[in-house]
Order: sequence, then C-alpha cells, then structure tokens
Amino acid sequence: MKRVVNLYRTSIGKKIIMAISGFVFVAFVIVHMLGNLKIFYPAHEGVYKIDVYGEFLRTVGYPVFARGQVLWIFRITLIGLALFHIWSAIVTWLMSRSARPIKYKVVEPVASTLASRTMRIGGVVIAVFIIFHMLNLTTGDIFPGGQFEHGAVHDNMLANFSVWWVTAFYVIAMLFLGLHLYHGVWSAFQTLGVSNPKYNSWRRGLAWFVAILVTAGNIAIPLAILMGKVH
Ligand code: HEM
Repeated sequence: MKRVVNLYRTSIGKKIIMAISGFVFVAFVIVHMLGNLKIFYPAHEGVYKIDVYGEFLRTVGYPVFARGQVLWIFRITLIGLALFHIWSAIVTWLMSRSARPIKYKVVEPVASTLASRTMRIGGVVIAVFIIFHMLNLTTGDIFPGGQFEHGAVHDNMLANFSVWWVTAFYVIAMLFLGLHLYHGVWSAFQTLGVSNPKYNSWRRGLAWFVAILVTAGNIAIPLAILMGKVH
C-alpha cells in the first residue's frame, strides 16, 4: 500500500491514475453513446427503445439490489474516478510548472498537436459539460426545451435538442471531447509503457478511431433532432 501511495506522489504515478481512469471513461462514453443511438429506433407498440434502455439502467441488478442501487454505485465510482483524474491533472501541471518557473522564450510547437495543446481547456469544457448535462437530462433542473419528465428519455431528448443553442453547446463540447480523447488515448499508452515507435501507427489509429467514433456518434444525435430527422 505504501508503495502505491509513494508511486502516486510522483508525477508518473499521477499520469498512471489519469491513464487508467481515462480508459474507464473511454469505455463509458462508447457504451453511453451506443445506448443514446437508440433514439433513432422508431417506437414499437408505442414504446421507445431508448426509454426501455433508460429503465434498464435504473433496474439493473434487481432484485438482488434495490431499484437504482447499482446505478448509484456506478455513478459514485465514476465521480470518484473523475475527481482523481482532474486532481492528478492539476497537480502534474503545477509540478511541471514549478520544475520550470521561467517560461521558454521560444515555444517550439514541433511535438505538439491541436489535441495536446487543448488538453487543459478541453478538460474544463468537459467538466462544465458534464455538470450541465446532469442538470439538463438527468435531473431536468436546467431544461430550456419545456417540461422535463422523469423516465421519458425520448421525449426529453427531442424537446431538449430542438433548442438550437443547447444543440450548439453539445456539439462544441463533443468536439472538445474528441480532441481530448485523441490525445488522451495516445498518451495513456505512452504512460503505461507502450511507447515503442513500432506500435506508433496502431496507437495513432486507435486514438483516431475512438475520437471519431465518439464525436460523430454523439454529434449525430442532437443535430438529427434539431434538423427534425427524429420522430
Ligand atoms: C450528445 C451526446 C449525449 C447525449 C445525447 C446524452 C444523453 C443522455 C441522457 C438522455 C441521459 C439521461 C438518461 C436517463 O435518464 O436514463 C444521460 C445521462 C448521463 N450522461 Fe449523457 N449524453 C451525451 C453525452 C455524454 C457524455 C460525453 C458524457 C460523459 C463525458 C455523458 C455522461 C452522462 C452521465 C454521467 C449521465 C448520468 C447517468 C445517470 O446518472 O443516470 N453523456 N445522457
């Protein structure tokens, strides 16, 4: 245990935490996106597939666990990991800044990409997005689309994304998420020791794949609704 704590104190230890929690988030956003794509299924006998899916999330584990219990375990795990991820990012940033208090006079953008340069601002945008997203589609406290109804996932999504600025906000946030995922997946492998140049092409390929899949899938939903393509 002491060795784990000592490792966490180092900058590489924090990067390992960011990499592992990052992989959990990648798995979550892919599964979440696949679930949300059910919005494109037409209703069967008056029931929307996405509403059934929403209900499944609330009842998973029943009757061993009470309704919503497994979902809460999952939420708490995700929140804990997110706090660790953000905390580790802030501390490594502060550590690298104090290791070099005087800024480089000439900044060489050779090894940096748009994705790597937007990691910090992207992280802030994603954090703001998640808070807004919860208040918007989970609790309905911020719901500019009209009346929020608990459990009516399909109708809530339609009302929500018919408001142009809500859709615009989601689209912008998803573009930042895509950049964050691209650089995150790429550097997580580096942190975990897969840095041999002979693996670079598949690392890059996987990073592109995850980023494009999640961004395109997630952007398609609000845009299709705003354009009136989902009924
Ligand atoms: C356009 C993209 C997205 C759409 C349309 C969307 C849609 C939704 C909907 C409808 C819910 C409520 C589900 C229910 O009440 O059963 C939800 C919950 C949630 N979403 Fe998203 N989501 C999107 C992107 C994201 C992203 C990128 C993240 C994380 C980075 C995320 C994280 C969450 C979380 C943590 C919950 C709460 C689950 C819960 O506590 O019940 N979502 N989302």
